[in-house]
Amino acid sequence: MDKFLVNGGNSLSGSIVVPKAKNSYLAILSACVLCFGVVTLKECPHFSDINKMLDILSHLGCRVTRQGRDVEIDASTISHYDVPRELGHQVRSSIFLLGPIIGRLKHARVSYPGGCDIGLRPIDLHLKGLRALNVNICEEYGIIDCVGENLIGHDIHLDYPSVGATENIMMAGVYAKGITRIYNPAKEPEIVDLQNFINSMGGKITGGGTDTIIIEGVGKLHSTEYTPMSDRIIAGTYLLAAATCGGDITIKNVVPCHICSLTSKLKEVGFEIFDKNDNIRLVSRGRHKSFSKIDTMPYPGFPTDLQPQTMVLQTVSRGVSVITENLFETRLKHVPELIKMGANIKVHDRCAIVTGVENLYGTEVTASDLRAGAALVIAGLKAQGQTIISGVENIDRGYESLEIALSSLGADIKRI
Ligand code: UD1
Repeated sequence: MDKFLVNGGNSLSGSIVVPKAKNSYLAILSACVLCFGVVTLKECPHFSDINKMLDILSHLGCRVTRQGRDVEIDASTISHYDVPRELGHQVRSSIFLLGPIIGRLKHARVSYPGGCDIGLRPIDLHLKGLRALNVNICEEYGIIDCVGENLIGHDIHLDYPSVGATENIMMAGVYAKGITRIYNPAKEPEIVDLQNFINSMGGKITGGGTDTIIIEGVGKLHSTEYTPMSDRIIAGTYLLAAATCGGDITIKNVVPCHICSLTSKLKEVGFEIFDKNDNIRLVSRGRHKSFSKIDTMPYPGFPTDLQPQTMVLQTVSRGVSVITENLFETRLKHVPELIKMGANIKVHDRCAIVTGVENLYGTEVTASDLRAGAALVIAGLKAQGQTIISGVENIDRGYESLEIALSSLGADIKRI
């Protein structure tokens, strides 16, 4: 297993292009199953979660070809309706395939999904939505078997705006007879991206990003070429790395309003932030004040996927910050690792009270999940001395050669 070796203390400077979004890609790859032709997706990053989804599509009988940075998926040849346990367990997004496989083949069998170990992650809302569309679901031994011979559009109210459940229902609704309405859907930009992608194949979905999504059932979706949105969480990770280490970086190819929940906080405590078109520049000089409070929330609230990286900034800021993780029950596993590095953090339930210290120091730590791993990398870049981070396979799920990207900004980090 790879590790990262980080020598801390360098500030970051320069510019970096943000890759396309993992979470958009994962939903869009699932939606490819709905297509009766060929989909070309541009600028597909080499994240391991994306590679695993491509393996699942191949297993289903799709022809998958990587052509440089692009990927082509021919789902006209799809022949299987099952995602075996050994593939499904590797990625959370395998569950997103339920809706599109049922839509396309009327029958889907998927095991309970894997993904980052950050909480219970139930799928009751996914199943509730599918049942409302007239899908018969049988759950046995961790396998979900769904039969939907006659999908019928329905009004569905989600008790919580789950990203995955919204995506699954949107995709199942494409081939349902009549209209499906999702009330209280997730409003994340990745939902709008999925809507735009499906519509580029001839789908009729409106309302993505608002309080109600309306899906009009259609006939066969056709071939398309599509470029997914850029990764707002990677953008935020780079900004937080520069804010923590000091420096002057410009991130390119971003939609600034996708991360204004972060940039507005950074501005509040005195970081200089300049947005221009699809670039964001951050200038960080010295230690800044702590954010008094961070509460993770569904979009457009503060993203849970930036909570660990933000916590690192707070460990070396001036003052006390109270960080509450509202989405995932066990998403504070980076805390003991940061404490090993000298951070002053107290945890009560889902709340971390972070008192800023002058600096962190390097030691051996483990990345328990994707974003916790990104946080430990930032901590290592800031710390005095050497940090060795294991569990890099978790970081590779959603960052492409993170060590190369950060080295290009002046960080001293290598893979061993
Ligand atoms: C997606 C993202 C993940 C991000 C999360 C929240 C992907 C591949 N992953 O995950 O990076 O952290 O959104 O922004 O896009 N819930 C239920 N029942 C359900 C489904 C969810 O109770 O059926 C709860 C979950 O336990 C959690 C909350 O809803 O507390 C949010 O989960 P959800 O929005 O579904 O996240 P994911 O789609 O798994």
